[in-house]
Amino acid sequence: MKPIDMSSYQPYREMGKSCELRKIENKRVVWPLIDRMDPQNPNFRLRTLTRDDLEAVAELWRSSYPEVYGSVHEWILDPREYEERVAFAENWEAHAVTRPHAVMVGEDLRSNRIVMSSMYTKWDLNLQVEASFIAIHPAYRKGPVAASIWSNLASFYQWLEGTGAEYVTVFCETWHNTTQYIWFKRLGWKIAGIFPGNFTRWAGGEKEYRGCTIHFYRFLNDGDRISTRPEEWDLLPEVKELWDFMEKLNEHSGEDVM
Ligand SMILES: CC(C)(COP(=O)(O)OP(=O)(O)OC[C@H]1O[C@@H](n2cnc3c(N)ncnc32)[C@H](O)[C@@H]1OP(=O)(O)O)[C@@H](O)C(=O)NCCC(=O)NCCS
Repeated sequence: MKPIDMSSYQPYREMGKSCELRKIENKRVVWPLIDRMDPQNPNFRLRTLTRDDLEAVAELWRSSYPEVYGSVHEWILDPREYEERVAFAENWEAHAVTRPHAVMVGEDLRSNRIVMSSMYTKWDLNLQVEASFIAIHPAYRKGPVAASIWSNLASFYQWLEGTGAEYVTVFCETWHNTTQYIWFKRLGWKIAGIFPGNFTRWAGGEKEYRGCTIHFYRFLNDGDRISTRPEEWDLLPEVKELWDFMEKLNEHSGEDVM
């Protein structure tokens, strides 16, 4: 926390009456070091990124998620951009705390190929982790490797509780609804909203468009205990109607078993 003297100021209105308040203290999210062999599939390993993986991972994103070209996320396509941003397994002790991004990869041990990459972003002072990107190599979608990827990721999201994060979010693109289905129906995250035109995305060649993303959230580590409840939100009637409807839909989150 910065030493700013706030003693002569006050919030707009007293808030936090419907939830607990806590003292603002040092908050930080610490990335978990992952190295997990799949008990169901001895050829699948989920692990943290190393420097040796950089070319392969950037190539995986380029072939599987080229839409980020030209956007705020395009750095994932370029291996040189990782050095200052991402937590590497080799430097874990320091990077687990200091690096804003972590990358978990899935490795097929028969072919020694990285077949899946997933990238996460943290905001320490918000105790938040965003599951920013996931891609599976086109040759490994469906089938036993894909099944291992999803079941291992489900466990990874449970381990995320160990990071200290209390709020986890994900945005899903709208060129298919597969990830919306997985996060909403299988992982049990709730719909937060629809953001039309949220990010620029590559249309091929030199063209781009603004794509719509669907946002989901979930509380961990009792994050909901310090979250204000609807009774103290000042909402326009139309927004209240939308909230009530979203809550109805969110009752169906997590219905399908992973
Ligand atoms: C998105 C991506 C990771 C999905 O992986 P995939 O292997 O193609 O996923 P699948 O289509 O096999 O779907 C996974 C499971 O969800 C099920 N599923 C997906 N969408 C569904 C839907 N709308 N309704 C019901 N079931 C659905 C599938 O049937 C499958 O279930 P199963 O394992 O029980 O058979 C992969 O296609 C990819 O890397 N795409 C490029 C990058 C990308 O789009 N990333 C995500 C952006 S948000």
